[in-house]
Amino acid sequence: MDGVTVINHPLVQHKLTIMRKKDTSTASFRRLLREISTLLCYEVTRDLELKQETIETPMTTIEAPVLEGKKLVFASILRAGNGLLEGMLELVPSARVCHIGVYRDHDTLEAVEYYFKAPESLAERLTIVVDPMLATGNSSIAAVEKLKERGARNLRFLCLLAAPEGVRNFQAAHPDVPIYTASIDSHLNDKGYIVPGLGDAGDRMYGTK
Ligand code: URA
Repeated sequence: MDGVTVINHPLVQHKLTIMRKKDTSTASFRRLLREISTLLCYEVTRDLELKQETIETPMTTIEAPVLEGKKLVFASILRAGNGLLEGMLELVPSARVCHIGVYRDHDTLEAVEYYFKAPESLAERLTIVVDPMLATGNSSIAAVEKLKERGARNLRFLCLLAAPEGVRNFQAAHPDVPIYTASIDSHLNDKGYIVPGLGDAGDRMYGTK
């Protein structure tokens, strides 16, 4: 699929399989999610631009690469997005964090925002939006709409699992935002769950069911 990068790294695929198992405990699920999120973060940032900086090693002075531009923004779609944040912040501790609480009203189809807190100057930063599950795409589409309203221009969307329906909907709404995922699963069921999927990501990471 154009505009979608499937992260096939063997460690990602192995950990994902354990996460999918219905008998995997909350503790293991949470630990695996943190581990897998560092690997996903590595892939979603692999083409970031570098600039040269003059530094002194104990031996000599050299020009060495550092990240170009302002600090990254990780935008977490509440609540399950927070499960991906932890590992990503371990890898990029200086990243800024945005939290977004948003859903699409069933009747009006309007994006209803109940929480939004973002760092300044979104327009000058790469924003990586995170949510483990791209199912219908409704909340992801709405979250990206809200970020764009606040000025974000350079966005990427990172998830663990995507449904083909969610990918299609998301790309129709935001063709400029590339998607990164560990898997594109078969389909959505009539309740909007990804099949084969892993169940409710929020419930599995927080033990709420
Ligand atoms: N959200 C989840 O947590 N799981 C799904 O399968 C779909 C949406």
